[in-house]
Amino acid sequence: MAYYIGIDLGTSAVKMIMMAEDGTIARTVSRDYPISFPRDGWAEQDPRDWWAAVCDGMTELVGVDGGLVRGIGIGGQMHGLVTLDENDRVIRPAILWNDGRSSRECEYLNGGIGKKTLAAETANIAFAGFTAPKILWMRENEPELFSRIRKIMLPKDYIAYMMTGSFCTDMSDASGMLLLDVKNRRWSKKMLDIAGVTEDMLPALYESSDVVGTLLPSVGKRFGMSGSVRVVAGAGDNAAAAIGAGTVRDGMCNISLGTSGTVFIARDKFSVDDNCALHSFAHANGRYHLMGCMLSAASCERWFVKSILGGGSYDAEEAAIGQLGENRVFFLPYLMGERSPHNDPDARAVFFGMSMDTTRADMTAAVLEGVAFALRDSIEVARSLGVRIECATICGGGAKSALWRRIMANVLDARIVTLEKEEGPAFGAAILAAVGCGEYRDVYEAAEKLVAYKNEIEPEAALTEKYNERYAQFLRIYPAVKELYKA
Ligand code: XUL
Repeated sequence: MAYYIGIDLGTSAVKMIMMAEDGTIARTVSRDYPISFPRDGWAEQDPRDWWAAVCDGMTELVGVDGGLVRGIGIGGQMHGLVTLDENDRVIRPAILWNDGRSSRECEYLNGGIGKKTLAAETANIAFAGFTAPKILWMRENEPELFSRIRKIMLPKDYIAYMMTGSFCTDMSDASGMLLLDVKNRRWSKKMLDIAGVTEDMLPALYESSDVVGTLLPSVGKRFGMSGSVRVVAGAGDNAAAAIGAGTVRDGMCNISLGTSGTVFIARDKFSVDDNCALHSFAHANGRYHLMGCMLSAASCERWFVKSILGGGSYDAEEAAIGQLGENRVFFLPYLMGERSPHNDPDARAVFFGMSMDTTRADMTAAVLEGVAFALRDSIEVARSLGVRIECATICGGGAKSALWRRIMANVLDARIVTLEKEEGPAFGAAILAAVGCGEYRDVYEAAEKLVAYKNEIEPEAALTEKYNERYAQFLRIYPAVKELYKA
């Protein structure tokens, strides 16, 4: 028996699974860590907290079976800026994917350098969450700290570095730095110059299932594993989740309803649309994908139910929701600004349309529907590019709610399919490890053998029609309030 470990370095917790060679999940462990919001719209975490959580959870995960582990794969929150000094010490807390502080730097990149140049160099334009704008922010606002940078890496790469000493990243995660020439899968010299960094400060590039090293002896000892355990390059969490959902063939779509909400479309061929409304990134299968990302998805329900309503249960709040399609309340889910499609770090959430008879349940429904409408924004962009989306798998914490899945199916007018294994990015990362260790020929074979679907929800014609009308109204709210955010 051989085991492969998959790690999902998320925003609220690290989730780790131990997968047997036949895809069975033997054990799952999760460890939380803090996130700080030092200012409105900022989000930071200490990379050392990630590493402590991984080490702490690993002992419980492997138990006495450490000797049977062959490989480890890591998927993780994308775009975060991790900086190390000449002694490999963390210079400052990591600036996360949902941090909006770099709006001025984005204006400079998109306006000064120009979207055309950015798209030609990287296949993407600047968004506040991406890594390069954050590097520019640090150069401008923390010059002393910036001058000490010797290594720049992404969150999951810090874990691989601590495990193996190998300074590396994979193509899918590197795509979100705005430093990678995505089409040709190499760093863009021009973008490195613009960001004021040199190639030796950046990790070596690998494909996701490539082996990047073996465990350092001290780490192997700590984990109760042999030093020959191989670590693969891994993937950004969305590409890892897509592998775990079997989203590997051209046109397949996976929706992730986690802290962020993403629409992920696998593409065999490289493509980039005129407005760069969707991200054009490398996939963990060696090819490409298009992605729309909203910054607050399942986190909107958590915020509303736990912080605002005072900590009730999701099930109880959802059970109180009456007939779908009749709600007159709207919710713009922009608690941390918004990425796709508005690219507006200043945006904030809005409830709209309450009256004296509005109930608590109407407002909860508005939150679930608002997230679905905002995801539809990305789906519509993909459809306008000629991608047919009639069916999508769904993963992430929000996918556990049957009600939310039904809302999704009807708002998006697409069949929504759940997965037998709900571990998303961690499962995908374990698959990448198994492929890297030769257990499977490639991710296509692994996906075919290991990914199974559980149930599906079909859109209902009458409800879809009602949601079409409500979506048309939803579309008018953001433009009406947009100018107010600036003030
Ligand atoms: C994707 C993105 C988020 C994070 C969440 O572009 O920013 O989905 O990866 O972990």
